[in-house]
Amino acid sequence: MRNFTTVADIGDLNDAVKEALEVKADRFAFQHLGRNKTLLMIFFNSSLRTRLSTQKAAMNLGMNTIVLDVNQGAWKLETERGVIMDGDRPEHLLEAIPVMGCYCDVIGVRSFARFESKADDYNEVILNQFIKYSGRPVFSMEAATRHPLQSFADLITIEEYKTKQRPKVVMTWAPHPKALPQAVPNSFAEWMRAADVDFVIANPEGYDLDPQFVGDTKVYHNQDEALKGADFVYAKNWSAFADPNYGKVISTDRSWTVTADKMALTDNAFFMHCLPVRRNMIVSDDVIESPRSIVIPEAANREISAQVVLKRILQSL
Ligand code: CP
Repeated sequence: MRNFTTVADIGDLNDAVKEALEVKADRFAFQHLGRNKTLLMIFFNSSLRTRLSTQKAAMNLGMNTIVLDVNQGAWKLETERGVIMDGDRPEHLLEAIPVMGCYCDVIGVRSFARFESKADDYNEVILNQFIKYSGRPVFSMEAATRHPLQSFADLITIEEYKTKQRPKVVMTWAPHPKALPQAVPNSFAEWMRAADVDFVIANPEGYDLDPQFVGDTKVYHNQDEALKGADFVYAKNWSAFADPNYGKVISTDRSWTVTADKMALTDNAFFMHCLPVRRNMIVSDDVIESPRSIVIPEAANREISAQVVLKRILQSL
């Protein structure tokens, strides 16, 4: 595997989960792969889980790691070509990227949606420039439209906790005060559609995701209906996708908060969220603290998903 940005890059999901469980059982078995290899992790946005889990995964594989927070300590980067650079951004991404490539063997990029241009976000302009100009294998640590390391960890977690061959997985929108990208829900939908699960989405009117990610998934605008019989409830907020509201908060309706009453509609479902989560907006304290909440094992599996991806990239060098 050269680059990892979507579910398509991982190949057969059963093989990927099997490999993940093998890696989890013996995390240090492939230390030789990363010897004298350097991972550069570039963050355009804040992170706790991705930063720590990916660095840990790289160390498990014997790699050296460098972390760069672009907005703290680096030169401010211009990203548009053709701009007269007489403002406050002294370095252009088109020089910065190949320079970064000189100092490492593999690059992880967190780029995020900027909500300035839907076309730029959905064309993954930043991530694709790294792929084009770095000369190195690149993997997404969450980009504008997808968060595949998170979705892979989510899939591993569902496989570990499921008690039915084909569990019902409900991804539900939940309220949040600030505009969040669609990357996590887009990606989760993409991975669940490829997995052997009964997947449905619940969101209020106006919050339908990009049809390329939803495909033929059933979308409910009534959360209670969607939750009936669920084995896994995957809560997430996202901002509106459809124009003219792209990237905007159009509702903070707290009747969509995942509470114990909502979970009572399910088949004793497990609660999942990628974190960070705003308690009592997205989910009530009692639900996230309940024995059916698996948000911590889900976060722990971020190390495993990152390690499988890095392992495959190292094996391809
Ligand atoms: N879930 C996730 O990606 O968390 P961070 O933003 O903290 O990395």
